[in-house]
Amino acid sequence: HRDLHSFPTRRSSDLPDPILGLIALANKDLNANKIDLGVGVYKNESGATPIMTAVKTAEHNCAEKELTKAYIGPAGPVAFNSGIRELIFGAQHSALQAERVRTVLTPGGCGALRVGAEFLKRCSENATVWVSDPTWANHLPLLSNAGLQLAEYPYYEAGRAGVKFDEMMSALHNVGRGDIVLLHGCCHNPCGADLSEEQWRELTALAAKNGFLPFIDLAYQGFGRGLDEDAYGIRYMAEHLPELLVASSCSKNFGLYRERVGSLSVLGDNPVQSDAALTHVNNVVRGNYSMPPSHGGAIVGEILADSALRQQWQRELTDMRDRINQLRVLLVDKLAAQNVDRDFSFIAQQHGMFSFLGLSVAQVDQLREQFSIYMVGSSRINIAGINQANIDYLALSIAAVLAS
Ligand code: LMR
Repeated sequence: HRDLHSFPTRRSSDLPDPILGLIALANKDLNANKIDLGVGVYKNESGATPIMTAVKTAEHNCAEKELTKAYIGPAGPVAFNSGIRELIFGAQHSALQAERVRTVLTPGGCGALRVGAEFLKRCSENATVWVSDPTWANHLPLLSNAGLQLAEYPYYEAGRAGVKFDEMMSALHNVGRGDIVLLHGCCHNPCGADLSEEQWRELTALAAKNGFLPFIDLAYQGFGRGLDEDAYGIRYMAEHLPELLVASSCSKNFGLYRERVGSLSVLGDNPVQSDAALTHVNNVVRGNYSMPPSHGGAIVGEILADSALRQQWQRELTDMRDRINQLRVLLVDKLAAQNVDRDFSFIAQQHGMFSFLGLSVAQVDQLREQFSIYMVGSSRINIAGINQANIDYLALSIAAVLAS
């Protein structure tokens, strides 16, 4: 027996990720009635996550067109960078016309958040990032591993439809220059409650007055109300603020999960400042993973540049969004039909892949153990995991747990 000396021992913060752990648990469960509402992966009516047709075609085109495997550089391919920038900000946006936005391809939205966090650490050594309570579990390590301090602002309480906007604004009242506020661009993960357009405008006015820097995570563009509608907050802030960071993900809206495709956009006050920021971002990338893999970004670049492919992709994305929004309404109806002693109508008013059912940890455990229904411990459900074949069993099981 030899002593371990160099490696750290396991700390509580190194427990398996609560979301990823659920994938393995659900896979092991052989109950035919099993419903997996855990990890945020889109599923169709048959419970599958197929490759989008536009992606399949683009992938084929890219393989035909690619002539070399030489390095692509830390920022990634230009076709991706400009295509995704226009998708996020809108091609005619004043910030793009003024050449104030620089965009790099990153390994997933996580890569964008981590590179953005290291960039922010360079901007302001003692910066605190304010995150919503609740927020996506992985935001915490992605930001704090880069050396940023974290603080929380109130955002949402289970069982409500909208956000706790007044409390959020009072918490941010004293946040000022040098500090960062992390926002979910749309389809808030985990709660599904988004800021209204008016609330985005009020928040923008506060950022302009106080000088804090918004960092917007846009992981579900196109999954909420529509591609343009879901970018409202970003576009408004980009019009009215001198500086902004945007992390985006192509995991969901292009279904490219395992390819790890995302982007980081830095908006500066003017082109010179933006170029300086890009130099820092590229240095951060070089010091982490040198440069992004090209495959997924090439696919997205191809789709966005080819009008037929782009239309095909938008149709497929619209189908996914419509399915989720219809399931939201249906779930509310099915729960009401079970005569549950609780108002679930908020689910139909929220957007994106997730909502909280508002159950206790014990109730979540009971759903898993007795009914083989899997969701994150906070009672976050992935709406896309529901379908016509399992929704009655789901509503019945939730009603049983609520009544017990
Ligand atoms: C989720 O929240 O379930 C997804 O974003 C997948 C993940 O990486 O956690």
